[in-house]
Amino acid sequence: MDRLRSLLFLLPLLQLSAAQSTTAPAVPAYTPPPGSPGFYHGNSSAAVTFDQQSLFLDNKRLFVFSGEFHPWRLPSGPEAWRDVLEKMKAAGFNSVSVYHHWGVTEPKQGDLNFGNFRSQGDFYQVAKEVGILVMARPGPYINAETTAGGFPGWTTNLAAKARTNATEWTNAWTPYLSNSAKAATPFQYPAGPIITVQAENEFVVSTPSDPGRSEAMVLVENNLRNNGITKVPITHNDPGTNGRYAHGLGMVDWYMWDGYPNGFLCASPSQWSEVRSDLIQEHMSIDPAEPWAAGEFQGGSFDPWGGSGYQQCYQLTGEEFANVFYKNNYASGIVYQNLYMTFGGTNWGNLPEPTVYTSYDYGAPIKEDRTLTPKYSEIKLQSHFLHASPDILVSTPVAAGTNFTNNANVYTTLLSGAPSGANFYVVRQTTNTNTSPVSFKLNINTAQGALTVPQFGSNITLAGRESKILVSNYQFGSSQLLYSTAEVNLTWFTMEKTDTIVLYALPGQQIEVVLPNITSNALSTQGSSSVTAKISNKSLIITGSPSGTTFIKAGSTSIIVADKFTARTFWNPKVDTKTTPYDVAPDVASVLVSGPYLVRNASISGPVLALRGDLNETTTLEVLAPASIKGVTWNGAPVVALPTAQGTLKCVLPFTLKKPTLPSLKSLQWACTDSLPEVQPGFDDSTWVVANKTTTNRPPQYQPFSGKFLLYADEYGFHQGNTLYRGHFKGANATGVKLAVEGGFNFGYSAWINSHFLFSNNGTNQYSANGGTNQVNDTLTFPAGSLTSGDNILTVVLDPTGLEEDFDGQDEHKTPRGIRGYELLGGGDFDSWKIIGNFGGESAPDKVRAHLPGFSTKGWSSGASCNPLTTGLSAAGIKAFRTSFNLNLPVGSDIPVALNFTRIPSSRHRSAIFINGWQFGRFSSADGPQTLFPLPDGILNSRGNNELLITLWSLDAPGAEFADVELVSTAVVQSSKRRFQEVS
Ligand SMILES: *[C@@H]1O[C@H](CO)[C@@H](O)[C@H](O)[C@H]1NC(C)=O
Ligand SMILES: *[C@@H]1O[C@H](CO)[C@@H](O)[C@H](O)[C@H]1NC(C)=O
Repeated sequence: MDRLRSLLFLLPLLQLSAAQSTTAPAVPAYTPPPGSPGFYHGNSSAAVTFDQQSLFLDNKRLFVFSGEFHPWRLPSGPEAWRDVLEKMKAAGFNSVSVYHHWGVTEPKQGDLNFGNFRSQGDFYQVAKEVGILVMARPGPYINAETTAGGFPGWTTNLAAKARTNATEWTNAWTPYLSNSAKAATPFQYPAGPIITVQAENEFVVSTPSDPGRSEAMVLVENNLRNNGITKVPITHNDPGTNGRYAHGLGMVDWYMWDGYPNGFLCASPSQWSEVRSDLIQEHMSIDPAEPWAAGEFQGGSFDPWGGSGYQQCYQLTGEEFANVFYKNNYASGIVYQNLYMTFGGTNWGNLPEPTVYTSYDYGAPIKEDRTLTPKYSEIKLQSHFLHASPDILVSTPVAAGTNFTNNANVYTTLLSGAPSGANFYVVRQTTNTNTSPVSFKLNINTAQGALTVPQFGSNITLAGRESKILVSNYQFGSSQLLYSTAEVNLTWFTMEKTDTIVLYALPGQQIEVVLPNITSNALSTQGSSSVTAKISNKSLIITGSPSGTTFIKAGSTSIIVADKFTARTFWNPKVDTKTTPYDVAPDVASVLVSGPYLVRNASISGPVLALRGDLNETTTLEVLAPASIKGVTWNGAPVVALPTAQGTLKCVLPFTLKKPTLPSLKSLQWACTDSLPEVQPGFDDSTWVVANKTTTNRPPQYQPFSGKFLLYADEYGFHQGNTLYRGHFKGANATGVKLAVEGGFNFGYSAWINSHFLFSNNGTNQYSANGGTNQVNDTLTFPAGSLTSGDNILTVVLDPTGLEEDFDGQDEHKTPRGIRGYELLGGGDFDSWKIIGNFGGESAPDKVRAHLPGFSTKGWSSGASCNPLTTGLSAAGIKAFRTSFNLNLPVGSDIPVALNFTRIPSSRHRSAIFINGWQFGRFSSADGPQTLFPLPDGILNSRGNNELLITLWSLDAPGAEFADVELVSTAVVQSSKRRFQEVS
């Protein structure tokens, strides 16, 4: 085989075989059945328990605030995972949900590999060290917008229908799942962080016309239990609130559902769906004896080839979405929420399925380059509130409607029932079609009787797209809020016998907060004067419009009022080491830190508070800590923090990094070579695989259209990446060829007869007018004189976009990839076909990348004609360009680097990008939308040499050129992350 094959096709390939109505629905009365920890399925050895209201850890109730993260989409390794998990924990996520990927784990049947980015145990270990709980989701099916939904490519060749109880199917997944369960078993709570294990994903149940599904589910659950998953509940993630596996055959310990209310059409980023006000009724009809759990809830949106880009997906699902939709979940009694995705990562290698491209940023709270977004900060406010408000876990939605206020545009849900008498009023716009602010007075119950609030000042307002959780009878320490129309607290804690609470509202909004039973007349107000306080009739009354931070202290109660944007800069790291590492108790000691871009964690030793965090600019650090704290260190270095009138310590943290100057690709030395020698006369394909199958096990809808031989790449062990065909026929009589080519949405192919370029075509995206094209039927005419009387060769090179997911369970992953049918026109037929794909097929040698680093460029050209920024292709074909460059990014920096392409939408050219042998991008100039390709630290060597290879494939006869490609940095952060080990 030619080494150029290696370049384009071998070296790089990852072995992936490798509103509802505006009137209030009646909320049924909630009568909790007698329940206690240890409820589920009579399992006395359970370490993680729940009753009908919440999960328990160590006999303490916990709101599980979880975020989805796929370590295999960040292959930089455990230190990179730690960085993401620390960021999640700092935002108040107490749990991470993880899909594992069977396909990358078992590229060849029986050849299981749990090393590197595939390691499940390494991920659990890092989560344990960080102190974040884990929801483990090993599949075997995961969907996840990944090729074949996480199935290995070889499963497309099995006769058995996938996800049934057929013996062949059961035998296929058993080794992977058994080993996954065994990796999880020692990490079950309390020995480790795992609190739930999910069986299957988004699965159907058996019906008379589709039998064997629930039976398969039983087999999956039994496998998990038999391999040691006995201490934590087994869950399922139902696509929508359909009640699947809440009851009946295959019933799991704990039912969960998923919801993506704003959908995935990022082209209309401001078009919202209505929130569902019927969710609590769904709960009562599906699983009233369990806590109401969203196994996945929209954290962002995927984006297809030709889509709008992740900036718009972020807009569709941004901080306002998070504010309104997540609070509606809490209003609906949800006590377990997993945000999919919280960090999306990258579909590097051949991870994607055809609806998604390389970036899996997902518009998530943490971006693909691991930087933080305003949505991250919005989530931080919510998670801290839930953590600090255990009463919400013993409250239920008791009434809802538009009758709580004097404005029918405001919909209120009341959660109550906690022994403390706390009430939670979740207010929102009645319809999401109204995007204008609304103002109102709210009727509430308080310990002093029914009140209409505000009593003294101006109305409560909701911005156009806003929801608030307002409280009454809210206990914090030995203090209480009678009510607060300031939006709810970020957190509270008791420090030095002083109860401290943080309240916030958007700038410009009026607040009114009343605290009863104030016995002292000592009142002090420091900081911003936008909010004022007075004591009247033993009540502390706070009014105003938050701007900056106001510190109010009355006796042993301290109230910090901030505008919402200031509140977003607050961090509340736990400093208590005596409680569990998972911080399940709301009363663990903590400090309040404001200012930095990120505060990862804090610890106290003697009089010193040690903070670890990141900066993206020079920042004023302010710390509220016990009076015993006299000094502060920032990432190990002492800082001069001076006491303030409001009892805090304050200093300036200098930002010293400069935006780095990155190498200019244009001025580097490049080598290049023709990457399609197959169309040269005399090319030897004798080592290629002979494609001589004539039948396939696939179901009727996936049979070939025409032609004697079956030409599906997967039938010959090539499950990902580019494939090449050479069809041989004799004689000069043929006039052309009919080809049916199938490669998924936005795939591409080019065909040559002997050395004559014939034709290229490509699919379109799933949202295009005709519903998207993943298969084309073309008639290609042989030009006069292109044939010889001897052996003629039709060469077809195909760039598929991944295997379909099996979302509907109808074996969609078996959709053919390659030539689906062919017919030689003008008489005669092909004598034989040869096929080649990724190097080694299922047995690719490099278990990490498939690239063999140090590949020799001997025989390549060099010089000016090899600079991809000045020379391209003057004909249809494929060329490879290679260079190397040094980076020397400062120690202690986190400077994400990306490759930035300029798109020419009218030019059909495609590229694959390889950094140090890892394929980290597929660019399609005609389709887009992705032009910025992050090269993650750890894959990129941030202090050393890097090897970059870019291919250029012109689908059109005139050829193609890059408009521009450059290295850019997407952020400059002074970071306390540990150094990522370069994975080589
Ligand atoms: C699968 O389940 C169906 C329905 O219960 C049953 O008839 C069949 O025997 C099962 N197949 C296997 C292989 O267990
Ligand atoms: C609003 O109506 C519901 C349903 O009739 C009722 O339960 C609730 O108490 C009413 N709320 C107020 C504040 O009147």
